[in-house]
Amino acid sequence: MIVCSCTVITDKELKQAAEAIKNEPGQGIVTPGAVFRYLGKRPKCGTCFPMIVHIIHAMAEKDRRGSGQ
Ligand code: FES
Repeated sequence: MIVCSCTVITDKELKQAAEAIKNEPGQGIVTPGAVFRYLGKRPKCGTCFPMIVHIIHAMAEKDRRGSGQ
């Protein structure tokens, strides 16, 4: 599924980028801006930001549940 139609970012790319950012030493905060930077892209309209934030939050919730918290 494409989450950003301006720069053609898929949900798979987003999740891979979010995982990589989360695991970077000294980083760990996944934001839409961090995802765009990681992928070497620049947002244009910003319409996708709520969907990107939703997916990032869903991943964090899944991680939290997986860690037993
Ligand atoms: S849809 Fe992502 S910047 Fe426009």
